[in-house]
Amino acid sequence: MIISITSLKGGVGKSTLSQNLAVCLAHIGYKVAIIDTDTNASSVHWSGLRPDNLPSVAVFGISDSEALSKNAKKLVQDYDIVLIDGTPSLSRLVSTIILLGDMVLIPIKPSALDVWATEKFIEKYDQASVIKDVKAYFILNQYDANLSFNRDSKEVLSDLNIPILKSTLKTRVAYVEAVVQGLGVYEYKDKKARDEMAALCNEIVTLFP
Ligand SMILES: Nc1ncnc2c1ncn2[C@@H]1O[C@H](COP(=O)(O)OP(=O)(O)O)[C@@H](O)[C@H]1O
Ligand SMILES: [Mg+2]
Repeated sequence: MIISITSLKGGVGKSTLSQNLAVCLAHIGYKVAIIDTDTNASSVHWSGLRPDNLPSVAVFGISDSEALSKNAKKLVQDYDIVLIDGTPSLSRLVSTIILLGDMVLIPIKPSALDVWATEKFIEKYDQASVIKDVKAYFILNQYDANLSFNRDSKEVLSDLNIPILKSTLKTRVAYVEAVVQGLGVYEYKDKKARDEMAALCNEIVTLFP
């Protein structure tokens, strides 16, 4: 199965989510790979730091649309789950990423700027949906229900035709610290981060097509 993690904006948590989800899924027992499509190669770097004694997550860097299609279809035969860590652009690559996914996850920060950016994304998604029916879900990253503008952003998103997952991620130092040790927060000392990531991962597993 291929899970595409995409958005039209950078810095919303695509790589963070890819790595952390990969780690949780690997702990559950799935054989997991990440294809890092961003030229900043952050998941590739992360994998280089990952300790050998932890469940392995293979990471491949591919940022060309044709090579991605070809390799994703090959890798899906060797791995239970291939996560595609997306790139922020309006390029063909984004359409390819959406179309390859059996499931599409869209991390989003709950701010007006980020919500406005989804309009263009939804256009891309709607175009892709004509070719193939792809299930997509928003994931609220760096969400704080105590902040009214966060709640407002959620409200606006809930009017769109893409459902929002119940599990959300808060802003936590653990996400920034774990990555430089090649870990997922599921393997890190912050219990709240671990618990919220496990909850998100479990919710996603129940939605597997
Ligand atoms: N929930 C979070 N809490 C704290 N920092 C976060 C969180 N999610 C992402 N970040 C940080 O925000 C930055 C951008 O995240 P990243 O996953 O690289 O985004 P993208 O891949 O979409 O460009 C990174 O420095 C990352 O560590
Ligand atoms: Mg990234």
